[in-house]
Amino acid sequence: METMNQQPASMPRIGEKAPEFKAVTTQGEINFPADYKGSWVILFSHPADFTPVCTSEFMTFATMEKQFNQANCKLVGLSVDGLYSHIAWLRTIKDKIEYKGMKNVEVTFPLIEDITMEVAKKYGMMMPGESNTKAVRAVFVIDPEGIVRTVLYYPLSLGRNFDELYRIVVALQAADKFSVATPADWRPGDDVIISPAGSCGTAKDRMDGKEEGLECKDWFFCTKKLPKEKVLDAILKK
Ligand code: BEZ
Repeated sequence: METMNQQPASMPRIGEKAPEFKAVTTQGEINFPADYKGSWVILFSHPADFTPVCTSEFMTFATMEKQFNQANCKLVGLSVDGLYSHIAWLRTIKDKIEYKGMKNVEVTFPLIEDITMEVAKKYGMMMPGESNTKAVRAVFVIDPEGIVRTVLYYPLSLGRNFDELYRIVVALQAADKFSVATPADWRPGDDVIISPAGSCGTAKDRMDGKEEGLECKDWFFCTKKLPKEKVLDAILKK
């Protein structure tokens, strides 16, 4: 007989359609991902309401929400707690918690109630090796067509880096808009990577400096400038 740890879990993968669901949230019902067509969305899970790491994460994410919205990205949270617990926790955060200079923080993005774990299981957020009763800290970055573009999983004890989540949203959009790839630790304004030479002729031309504006470390590794203003102009809502 299979034990809990050996059961195959479903898990949306990069490049696949985000699994559909309808859910009750702190902002009313949502039909996911249909309601988010045309926007990027970060769907993320957290282990439990009224826990310290989650509280620090929600305060940080809520404080950065406008910044994400400006990059055409909406936020949707989930835990396997119920709606009244969510409401009580969010009220406590707003009324009582002060952390790293953040206070009176109102969480206005939807927080899904998922007592049945239906959504958490669909998205592979339950990891029995970590906990049978709490979702891990999963992050799904989903594009305006409802395709999963990035997946991250963190354990219960490790709070996420929200600057990195923002960097991911901007880098994915820059890669799409300018048909480039982004190197390690890329930030808007840094050089970007162009697609590798697809023929010996192109490889030679690039190494001979015949393609203007490129800097080639070798035939397969060429970068070009992409000014910060150009990236931000293309991504940020005016
Ligand atoms: C927390 O958010 O602090 C937390 C939640 C579940 C397990 C451990 C820590």
